[in-house]
Amino acid sequence: MSGSRGVDEVVFSRPYRAPGELANLEAVLRSDHSHGDGDFTRSATERLRALSGAPHALLTTSCTHALEMAGLLLGLGPGDEVVLPSFTFPSAATAVVARGAVPVFVDIDPLTGNIDPNQVAEALTPRTRAVTVMHYGGVPVDLDAVLAVTEPAGIALVEDNAHGLGGAYGERMLGSAGVMATQSFHDTKNVHCGEGGALLVNDAVLFRRAEILREKGTDRARFLRGEVDKYTWQDQGSSYLPSELNAAVLDAQLAEFETIQAARHRVWNAYAAALGEWADAQGVRLMSSDPGLQHTAHLFYLVMPGHEGQQALIAHLRTHGVRATFHYVPLDTSPAGEHFGRRLTRLGRTAEFSRRLVRLPLWAGLDDAQVERVIEGVLSYRP
Ligand SMILES: Cc1ncc(COP(=O)(O)O)c(C=O)c1O
Repeated sequence: MSGSRGVDEVVFSRPYRAPGELANLEAVLRSDHSHGDGDFTRSATERLRALSGAPHALLTTSCTHALEMAGLLLGLGPGDEVVLPSFTFPSAATAVVARGAVPVFVDIDPLTGNIDPNQVAEALTPRTRAVTVMHYGGVPVDLDAVLAVTEPAGIALVEDNAHGLGGAYGERMLGSAGVMATQSFHDTKNVHCGEGGALLVNDAVLFRRAEILREKGTDRARFLRGEVDKYTWQDQGSSYLPSELNAAVLDAQLAEFETIQAARHRVWNAYAAALGEWADAQGVRLMSSDPGLQHTAHLFYLVMPGHEGQQALIAHLRTHGVRATFHYVPLDTSPAGEHFGRRLTRLGRTAEFSRRLVRLPLWAGLDDAQVERVIEGVLSYRP
């Protein structure tokens, strides 16, 4: 698509193309094994375990399905509550509602967009079964503060790690802190296979059950390993495993993980270096991450002084041939959130963050001229 300056628009996101993915796809198509759990699934799963530090991992058809599996594994049911930030993707809430349980929305830390641990403490009731956190843009949640609330209360922590693969909170890799974590490999993510996901499981007993839930409630995984002589219906479940075609693309992408991340960090660092002075002068706050923590360069965003500034900067960048966006719309005030959920208090920081946020294009293939065009676009904006 052409921008107003007659050059190609700098799109917000473009999926990475890994050199090996076409050869991997051809290998699957020429084989007799394109259903799930073949060699590419095994290889991608091993890569994922290494990147996340999680002892067990299962590829799934999406992050949404991995969140649904987490709800099943936690045994959520009617009357149970799960605490989660209002500022997150709807799937964290739909997975709770699918079990008849209630999502309880809390506010964010406005510096990161991540769940506010103080609000988690306030939201706990005798019905709370789990807390789901999400590392917004790949900036780690304050995990020590959240675990200080959940562990003494015996409440499960689930990390929606859709943005956080490869990030770290101190020594802890994102995805390894809670009892389970979920990944997304949707094509807007740092690593993708079109549509896909994973469930990371940090508990051996839960993992055995997770294998069954993922395979239509059967012990087929044990059968394939030769541990039983036939497989039968054992438990609840659905079909959550991706085909080898998806795993083939994912494996090629994960093989390039370091390259992808280096390219994304280069863009992130260029924005941070070029926009600081302008931001200070305009009363804008740039996305930041504690230097002691490892973020994943999933997003780069600006927090404008107000809602008008958000709309005006997005429109200004559009005339400059740059596509910027905002997201998320808070869940607690969404139609389904009001119907199915409950909120701790009025979540003012979430509402403000959502109304002021502008996300700039960030993907591994952005070239220097495109990065420069984005920077020029922002610097030429005047309220
Ligand atoms: C934080 C977060 N969780 C979950 C999802 C859902 O992922 P999927 O499309 O793989 O189901 C997304 C998608 O953008 C997301 O950003």
